[in-house]
Amino acid sequence: MDRVLLLPGDGIGPEVTEQARRVLEAVAPRFGLRLSFEEERIGGISIDERGTPLADLVVEKARASRAVLLGAVGGPKWDAEPVDRRPEKGLLRIRKALGLYANLRPASVFAALADASPLRPEIVEGIDLLVVRELTGGLYFGEPRGRALVQGRREARNTMVYDEVEIARIARTAFEAARLRRRHVTHVHKQNVLEVSQLWVEVVEEVAKDHPDVTLAHQLVDSCAMLLVKEPRRFDVIVTENLFGDILSDEAAMITGSLGMLPSASLGEGGLGLYEPVHGSAPDIAGRDIANPLAAILSAAMLFEHSLAAPEAAAAVRGAVAAVLDAGKRTGDLVLPGEGRPTLGCRAMGDAVLAALGA
Ligand code: IPM
Ligand code: MG
Repeated sequence: MDRVLLLPGDGIGPEVTEQARRVLEAVAPRFGLRLSFEEERIGGISIDERGTPLADLVVEKARASRAVLLGAVGGPKWDAEPVDRRPEKGLLRIRKALGLYANLRPASVFAALADASPLRPEIVEGIDLLVVRELTGGLYFGEPRGRALVQGRREARNTMVYDEVEIARIARTAFEAARLRRRHVTHVHKQNVLEVSQLWVEVVEEVAKDHPDVTLAHQLVDSCAMLLVKEPRRFDVIVTENLFGDILSDEAAMITGSLGMLPSASLGEGGLGLYEPVHGSAPDIAGRDIANPLAAILSAAMLFEHSLAAPEAAAAVRGAVAAVLDAGKRTGDLVLPGEGRPTLGCRAMGDAVLAALGA
């Protein structure tokens, strides 16, 4: 029996996680897997109930699980909190506590959605890239950090810091992922300004020597942002530090059609993985059953693949999502303004995926 810890979180997190759980439950037994589920709190709801965005017992439960499926955290209710007590801190803390340094964010285009992209179909067709984002270092965690009053002026500070071990391990993740794909890694940096990026270039080059079958390019982050819109097909694996990866993965998601489609996996040295949709808590549409559950469902597919060693189960889920889209089914976010196409709600989209799975 493999235990999955559900952390639905805030906003649309609970609705989309529920659909992903249904898919996990339906698919697992067909591939000889037995799953048990437990649910816990993270983010704003945890602040409200426990006074902290992430209680230690939740970290313990995560450690005792095979995988964690997370929804989203945050919302306007907690916006006034200082950084240290915000819902987002719960997410950052669990990533760090579980040592999940490698964040995989695949962005590819489902054929049926090529026209949902804000870019022209001929630019979008065939996009298939993987952002490998470093997740436990850089500006998000660097010390010193904080605010101060210096000579009567408010001042704030964050520190971008990486050591070579942190860079080498995420670079290896990227090169190994590339070996299962088109064997090309693009390292994204700002080495014309940042010493941290210069160290990244050095260490990534060293790791590249152990992977002579994979080609490597270095790309400045600003130019990468531009090329993602101009020629997204040129990218296979993009590896980069935490903040650049945060920004570029939203961009990569959007060019494929909708942020509502992009799944992610966060992995560390052990077998434990955390899976979450890249989209946020979308408080404006929460509780209205209109959110797109497909990013959460595709995150469940990644869970099958990376934590349960069940690639066929993952393929079945992805196939069902593609079939549903091919059949013209859409949630509101996948319909362009003026298109006038009828849309499905969150639960109905979950039903459609289950039906395509024959469940
Ligand atoms: C993401 C999110 C988080 C991040 C926030 C919610 C802290 O934007 O997973 O991309 O910046 O990592
Ligand atoms: Mg983000």
